[in-house]
Amino acid sequence: MRILVTGGAGFIGTNFVFHTLRAHPRDEVTVLDALTYAGNLENLKPLEGHPRFTFAKGDVCDRGVVETLIRGSDAVVHFAAESHVDRSIADASAFVRTNILGTQTLLDACRRNANVRFHHVSTDEVFGSLGPKGLFNESSPYDPRSPYSASKAAADHLVRAAWHTHRLPVTISNTSNNYGPFCFPEKLIPLFITNLLEGKKVPLYGDGMNIRDWIHVEDHCRGIDLALRHGTLGETYCFGGRNERTNAELTEIILFEMGFGKEMILPVTDRPGHDRRYAIDSAKAERTLGWHPEVPFIVGIRKTIAWYVANRPWWERIKSGAYREYYEKQYGAGGVTRPQDPRT
Ligand code: NAD
Ligand code: DAU
Repeated sequence: MRILVTGGAGFIGTNFVFHTLRAHPRDEVTVLDALTYAGNLENLKPLEGHPRFTFAKGDVCDRGVVETLIRGSDAVVHFAAESHVDRSIADASAFVRTNILGTQTLLDACRRNANVRFHHVSTDEVFGSLGPKGLFNESSPYDPRSPYSASKAAADHLVRAAWHTHRLPVTISNTSNNYGPFCFPEKLIPLFITNLLEGKKVPLYGDGMNIRDWIHVEDHCRGIDLALRHGTLGETYCFGGRNERTNAELTEIILFEMGFGKEMILPVTDRPGHDRRYAIDSAKAERTLGWHPEVPFIVGIRKTIAWYVANRPWWERIKSGAYREYYEKQYGAGGVTRPQDPRT
């Protein structure tokens, strides 16, 4: 299979490219990536000269580039997106452009190149926020509540519409919070690990009681792979880690594993509109694809910490580069100084 991977220089895309080349020795992979602040060609450096790998720098909103690459592909796995909720709260424009227009541009090109399979990588955030009980599944109503999740929900609807209207051969996956190697250090787990390695405190939003369901990125990549090859056209698959943690609990695990105490926690102002709880019921994926999460959380988090320890130059370059300006706008120069929320 010749697979076009959009966003393949980002966190999950990078892991998926390595997974595919390893698991499918005859497959060819082309990455299309605009190399935004979140895209990093260094991730793919080990593949330089690989006979089954090609990299193309380009924008998923660019019809010409997209058309050319899709013409030579059997399948598209679409990761490219603006992915960070806090950034969407600061400015949603890039989210609307890439996540919505970019997705439609790819779908249009697939329509003009019949039989190209399209797998859309989406998030559980499109379903909104859960109360203390219940789980999201493939029938959960859409209720996105951040500009990021609203843009992903719009993209999901466009993919669903392409199936219903044009019978485009699509599948969709909605997955919970990923962790693992190559995750940009603005998301909770890599931000906290790298802050601690720099001797900085970790900024915990609000009361720390928001819950996320953490899945190791390798489990997610296996799920996408199965949905692409064995999923039923037009169907959605939900992948979760069966691993709910409050942010406070997760922070304490990271602190413990890295040999720090709770004094390194800095409570900061909550994220506006902060969704309280996400959790996924993966029964359909387990029943129909034979998928289940395989990486136990404690093993995954230890491996992840070890990866950031071993790859210090990777994240130091990011933290000292263009990302620094964004980070310091939130937390002040030199570390975390965002004021404590008076409500906490
Ligand atoms: P990421 O931010 O690490 O990577 C995004 C990649 O897309 C980057 O390489 C970036 O350069 C590229 N990109 C951005 N705009 C582009 C454009 N206009 N054209 C081409 N490339 C562009 O994101 P991630 O965390 O790897 O997430 C990948 C996908 O998975 C996203 O669609 C996200 O919504 C979804 N998802 C993420 C998670 C998670 O926990 N990270 C969970 C569920 C679903
Ligand atoms: O649920 C899937 C989603 O998970 C993906 O669709 C998104 O692309 C991905 O970014 C992630 O979104 P979250 O907003 O859940 O991830 P983030 O790592 O930003 O935050 C996780 C939780 O930790 C959330 O409750 C907010 C909190 N948090 C986050 C940061 C960055 C903190 O308390 N402090 C922080 O500094």
